Order: sequence, then structure tokens, then C-alpha cells
Amino acid sequence: MSPLSITRTLPADATAAALRADVTQGLTRTPKQLPPKWFYDARGSELFEEITKLPEYYPTRAEREILLTRSAHIAAATGARTLIELGSGSSDKTRHLIGALTELHTYLPIDVSDSALAAAGEALLTEHPGLTVHALVADFQKGIQLPDTPGPRLLAFLGGTIGNLLPEERAAFLRSVHAMLSPGDALLLGTDLVKGEATLVAAYDDGQGVTAAFNKNVLQVINRELGGDFDPADFDHVALWNADHEWIEMRLRARTDLTVKIPAVDLAVSFAEGEEVRTEISAKFREGGVRSELAAAGLKLSEWWTDSAGRFALSLSVRV
Ligand code: SAH
Ligand code: AVI
Repeated sequence: MSPLSITRTLPADATAAALRADVTQGLTRTPKQLPPKWFYDARGSELFEEITKLPEYYPTRAEREILLTRSAHIAAATGARTLIELGSGSSDKTRHLIGALTELHTYLPIDVSDSALAAAGEALLTEHPGLTVHALVADFQKGIQLPDTPGPRLLAFLGGTIGNLLPEERAAFLRSVHAMLSPGDALLLGTDLVKGEATLVAAYDDGQGVTAAFNKNVLQVINRELGGDFDPADFDHVALWNADHEWIEMRLRARTDLTVKIPAVDLAVSFAEGEEVRTEISAKFREGGVRSELAAAGLKLSEWWTDSAGRFALSLSVRV
């Protein structure tokens, strides 16, 4: 096998069918909603990378700080020979971990964005020519068949992406993580923490409008893939803090009454002025909640680290 292989676990038509189903279900229900995974075509992945560099968007910098200070400990504690990463994106922060994992044999990045996987794989192999990189284009909510690679395994889920899942989705997801691991394998989980509303809202409504463009990108994906006639200028980007659920919600709000045609799913979707589509939740966590969600899935939290400003946490858990 060449040092970089990219496997598409689902045929392209299955991805297209999933998009059609999500758009049909999401835009014919009240209130309207779309799953966040459809943000990430090549343009959406680029916009996310821009977000990570914004002054308002602290999670990436905070998590990088923790990885820089804790990777040696993580390497010693896990002795990982295989590193699996879900929603790996650019794998940019992961390189700190990869550099520290002295026993590492295989890196398995998994993402829905094939453009992000290809770019990340090439960049990593330049830095680590001896590493086997086996990238999987797959949906981490759909149950993943992992190739047979040497243990112990460390499964990383960074960036706070777990917060983009609803509570019941998180529970199912963590059970699937448990199923991917053997006793003694470990999970490294990034979780953004509850903090003041102004800081949180600014992180999702930046001054340069990059997050607004990222949010509206889902409309461009529907236009391109399903022949839709959304005009992104007809919608405003909305980011708000839901204090009851302790999550940020991103929405797109129609500026006027309008109807959008989506021929591939035979839909004409009407929006009243002010009507919103929820496009993402981004849940924020507390240590006790993370610990108990992990325990419910058979994972025991062993380490909890935050950045120096206490904004973001990285936790290490073992499968019991
Ligand atoms: N881990 C990186 C990227 C986070 S952005 C970081 O910390 O910066 C979220 C990533 O998860 C994107 O690359 C996106 O394509 C991927 N993603 C989102 N939903 C997914 C799903 N259901 N299955 C697989 N990948 C998904
Ligand atoms: C990938 N995920 C953790 C990001 C977040 O912060 O919830 C996605 C994002 N949405 C808007 N900005 C960034």
C-alpha cells in the first residue's frame, strides 16, 4: 500500500441520496432545519479554516495550547500505534499529537470532506514520510468499518465537533465510539466550555462575516447538488445563545417572503419573512456533564485539561 490511501466508504450516490433526504425532511418540517455536515464541501472546508484564524474564534487556539502542553503525556499514557481521528479536517492541530506519538504506525483520518482529507494527508506525509496514512471518506454518525491496524488505538475527536450533535445523537455517537475501541484503547475528546454569552456569540458572528459566509455555504451546496435556486443574499446569518440547552444556534433568516425551487427533490419551499432554518447547534460543556455522558457509553474519563484561560477542555478517557 502507498503511504497515503483514501477510501470512500460510501458510494457518491449514497451521499447524494443522504443530502436529498436531509433537505426534503429538513425543509418540509416546522421549524426548518438542516444538518451541519452539509457545510463542508471544498469551499466550506476552506471557510472553516478561515474561521479558525479569526480573532473572535478562540476554540482552535485554546485546543492547540492544550495539545502543545499535553501531547507528550497523552503519548506516554496511551502508547498509541494507531491514531484514528473523526472529523479531522485539515489535521492541523493533530500534527502536534502525531509528532509526540513515538510508537505511531498508522494515522486514520476520517471526514466527509474529501478535499480536506487529500490536502491533510499530503501535508502530513511531507512531515512524517514513514507514517502510513489511511484516510476514510465517511460519515462518523453512520457506523464506520475500520481497517485492521495495530493497537493500542487512540481515537481523537477534536475541535469541539461533538457539540454539533444533539444530545441523543451524542449518546448514540459515544456508544459507536465505544464499539470501535478495545479495552485499554483511549478517546481524546475536545469540548468547548460554557462561558459568557458575549464571547460565545462573537465567536459565531465575527466582524468580517466569515462565519456568515460559512453558514450560507449550505445554500450553495443545495444549489449545486440539487439544482436549487437559493439566493444567499435573501438570508441573514443569525447566531444566538440558547441558555436552556447551553448551546449556540446558527440559523439563516429569510429577509422577505420567498419561495425556493429545488428540482432534484421536486420541492418548492416557501419562507415567510423572518422565518429561520436552524443550520447548526454548537453545545458548550461542563466537566460533570462530559464525565457522565462518557460514563453512560462505557468510557471512563481519566484526564481533564483546560487551556490557561479555561475556555476549552481536552479529556482523555479509556474504554472500560
Ligand atoms: N477537527 C478539525 C476540524 C473541525 S471542523 C479541527 O478541530 O479544527 C468539523 C470537521 O468535521 C469538518 O472537517 C467536517 O467535514 C467534518 N464532519 C462534520 N460532520 C461530519 C460527519 N457526520 N462525518 C464525518 N465528518 C464530518
Ligand atoms: C466544527 N465545529 C466544532 C465548529 C463549532 O464551533 O461548532 C463549526 C463552526 N460553526 C461556526 N463556526 C465554527
